[in-house]
Amino acid sequence: MTERPEIESSSGRLGVLLPGFGAVATTVVAGVEAVRRDLAKPIGSLTQMNTIRLGKRTENRTPLIKEFLSLVELEDLVFGAWDPIPDNGYVSAMEAGVLDSKHLDPLREFLEGIVPMPAVFHKDYVRRLDGPNVKTGRNKMDLAEQLREDLRRFKAENDCARLVMIWCGSTEVFLRTGAVHETLAAFEEGLEADDPAIAPSMIYAYAALKEGVPYANGAPNLSADLPALEELAVQQGVPIAGKDFKTGQTLMKTILAPGLKARMLGIEGWFSTNILGNRDGAVLDDPDSFKTKEESKLGVLHHLLQPDMYPDLYGNLYHKVRINYYPPRGDNKEGWDNIDIQGWMGYKMQIKVDFLCRDSILAAPIVLDLALFLDLAKRAGWGGVQEWLSFYFKSPQTAPGLYPEHDLFIQHRKLKNTLRHLGGEEPLTHLGLEYYDD
Ligand SMILES: NC(=O)c1ccc[n+]([C@@H]2O[C@H](COP(=O)([O-])OP(=O)(O)OC[C@H]3O[C@@H](n4cnc5c(N)ncnc54)[C@H](O)[C@@H]3O)[C@@H](O)[C@H]2O)c1
Repeated sequence: MTERPEIESSSGRLGVLLPGFGAVATTVVAGVEAVRRDLAKPIGSLTQMNTIRLGKRTENRTPLIKEFLSLVELEDLVFGAWDPIPDNGYVSAMEAGVLDSKHLDPLREFLEGIVPMPAVFHKDYVRRLDGPNVKTGRNKMDLAEQLREDLRRFKAENDCARLVMIWCGSTEVFLRTGAVHETLAAFEEGLEADDPAIAPSMIYAYAALKEGVPYANGAPNLSADLPALEELAVQQGVPIAGKDFKTGQTLMKTILAPGLKARMLGIEGWFSTNILGNRDGAVLDDPDSFKTKEESKLGVLHHLLQPDMYPDLYGNLYHKVRINYYPPRGDNKEGWDNIDIQGWMGYKMQIKVDFLCRDSILAAPIVLDLALFLDLAKRAGWGGVQEWLSFYFKSPQTAPGLYPEHDLFIQHRKLKNTLRHLGGEEPLTHLGLEYYDD
């Protein structure tokens, strides 16, 4: 990966396939169409709005990222989805309640045209949901074959040059990795044998990788974060990334904690609580789905603050995360953080954050960026885990043996330097001594 790769052309249509056609998925699809019609701006998307500095500060070279690396244009994106609930894009978006009808009504016909394909779904993995739009098959391998067939059909019918898949489905119950996830051979045997340790999201990931389709996971369940699927991704030369979109409270946490740590301020406690009332909230009301989310949210501070290295500052940190389902709020979640910090000589201070956020509004640009960047990685011939996309995830997937980097600013520098590398430019170190040479 260290040599600058040749990048294949971005020409042709890119199919973006979304398992899960709920709040996040419909918000990204509607938003892209609104931007294409000049009805809205793609706020929050680096691929659409961000520039990248190249070379020295005196050179004044700051193109848009999408121009620097010739990413796929929004006009060339085509969307498809799977969901056990058969609602089309308009009905699902209205149900999700993220976007107002003033935005959805002009897009009604377009959104009604996207009808989810029958899903690989089982209630054992998402207990609070059910729906009739579900595939049946001999075993899990047969279901994977059916998904592969969906991918091939979608690609042909929509005249796509390439595809990407991004899991926008519900959070599945907590599963640990076991023997069946260790190797590709064991995983394929498990698919044939209907092993209960193989969740639907893993079947989608497997199907995508077998078809050479890049895969990202927006939820905290394991999905492609398994040695078996990493092996397949490397074997197939297909990029994967995950897990769990970094939105809302965790986004705030990974903005604030690095700042406090940079100033060597201590943190004694961080109490985070949320109320949310959307379908995601209902699913997370099941303790086993919440456990998957909790693990994802709790890991962040430990890795960021390195209590073993700074026992005086973070050795006794008490970190608690709560999510409470509260229907009146719908998708407009409220997240409170109480942070107990310590300064000079141990004097105590407190920070209170009350974030009235809109989760899917923060997640939608992440889905768009991941689709375009995964396609870029694929065109560059990069297979396996794409750690440079950690910026977008609460629980970044890394190479075995590496701890994940959670600091949003380090993640951002890594992302931008990777883009510079891909574009044949020097990475920026910000050392800047050359400006002061005689
Ligand atoms: N909203 C955010 O900001 C955010 C942030 C981080 C992670 N996430 C995660 O993203 C996912 C989507 O969030 P959302 O708010 O859109 O939830 P949502 O409940 O509105 O949508 C999820 C959809 O997935 C469908 N689904 C469940 N199992 C499926 C399967 N096996 N195959 C196909 N579809 C399936 C459900 O029927 C539902 O329509 C959740 O796992 C959530 O935890 C969301």
